[in-house]
Amino acid sequence: MPNRTVTMIDNRTGEKYDFPILEPTIGPDVVDISTFYGNTGMFTFDRGFTSTASCRSKITYIDGGKGQLMYRGYDIAYLATQKTFLDSAYLLLNNDLPDEETLASFTEEMKKRSFIHEGMKKLFDAFPDNAHPMAILSAGVSALSTFYFDHLDVDTPEEYMEMAHRIVAKIPTIAALSYRYSQGLPVIYPDMNKGFTENFLYMLRGYPHHHIDLKPIEVKALDTIFTLHADHEQNASTTTVRVVASTHAHPYACIASGIAALWGRAHGGANESVIRQLEMIGSVENVDKYIAKAKDPDDPFRLMGFGHRVYKNFDPRATILKEIQQELVQELNLDTGLMAVAKKIEEIALSDEYFIKRNLYPNIDFYSGIILQALKIPKEMFAVIFVIGRTPGWISQWIELKEQDNIKIARPRQLYLGPLDRTPKY
Ligand code: ACO
Repeated sequence: MPNRTVTMIDNRTGEKYDFPILEPTIGPDVVDISTFYGNTGMFTFDRGFTSTASCRSKITYIDGGKGQLMYRGYDIAYLATQKTFLDSAYLLLNNDLPDEETLASFTEEMKKRSFIHEGMKKLFDAFPDNAHPMAILSAGVSALSTFYFDHLDVDTPEEYMEMAHRIVAKIPTIAALSYRYSQGLPVIYPDMNKGFTENFLYMLRGYPHHHIDLKPIEVKALDTIFTLHADHEQNASTTTVRVVASTHAHPYACIASGIAALWGRAHGGANESVIRQLEMIGSVENVDKYIAKAKDPDDPFRLMGFGHRVYKNFDPRATILKEIQQELVQELNLDTGLMAVAKKIEEIALSDEYFIKRNLYPNIDFYSGIILQALKIPKEMFAVIFVIGRTPGWISQWIELKEQDNIKIARPRQLYLGPLDRTPKY
């Protein structure tokens, strides 16, 4: 049996320290340095946590080299093409896919819980016109805690599930209302006859007493986007949810913090940037000019929707969305100028040596931005859509943290480089 430790030598003193190597089910081995400070008196430095595993988790696995993503051991392509978003949400929360009967009762539960307290409308009223829907959404989720103030201590598996169902079911309603209020549009209540994703599109696009024709391909496309966003391991917003949860904050505060973290353009805001950039490029004739700018080392311009920090081969979510985009184009007869620009960029980038050499493939945001625009979803709502998809993942990670013994408050240390001895004699 090989010695499963890593030895570190302090070259100043010659002292040796051993650290155990932990074995994951799959993926790189992990060196346990939790005794590092106690044994050596030193901290480790890892900017952006690029080499740090911050928790033990059984939920989601990513292999960036292979372009692999799994929820609870199921491949993302299977879940996105053979199952619905509510299947994946149930899977993340319960560790197993639901059978037909369980899915039906989970779907009913989501419908029943989709309404929000009428008192919350006063909150929406208080925001100015054109307020960003992400701001209203995070305030709305925080405000849920004021309506469930006697349910904030969530400690048993039954309480975890009740809270999870409440938040997953209400977020689309709060999200749709955030948009309706920000635009001064009449409020549309959930329709108990519609499924989860269809209902959200209906609340976003419908008008009172007016039939709205939602095509199955539109619902399928959005449902797939929700599934593909449902979890992504320990990304910035999920880590935020876990950090806040480690203080024993209640779940509404944790999810609202996750929403705030996701809003940034380096995270949930990227697909909005893709559309803004396509609009800026404007027409097919301008594409070559912008490709040249993207390749110029002295030009900071980057093609939005290309490249990924973790996926260095291909983004498996992008492959699935590319197919959905093609279905949408055919079924809805979409042939917009923006689509033509996107297609030309994609063609050039996939055959150009600069992009091939650097493994710069279209990522999920390249296709999701184009699809959301084809679904007539306004750009300010793109990050909100991401939130609806990611909520079951955040809550599953919250529950996983709560179920582990001895929750340790997240409390990193630092490399202090500031001044010393500035206090005057007094
Ligand atoms: N366009 C042009 N060149 C690029 C691009 C791009 N989109 N992305 C990376 N490069 C080039 C870099 O200039 C660099 O070239 P060099 O080696 O000649 O210096 C090389 O590719 C490597 O780039 P890094 O920045 O080191 O790659 P990193 O893995 O750190 O960055 C990132 C990944 C941030 C996603 C980057 O590819 C990027 O900025 N893409 C555009 C923004 C985007 O689409 N973000 C969404 C990501 S998906 C998500 O978060 C859900």
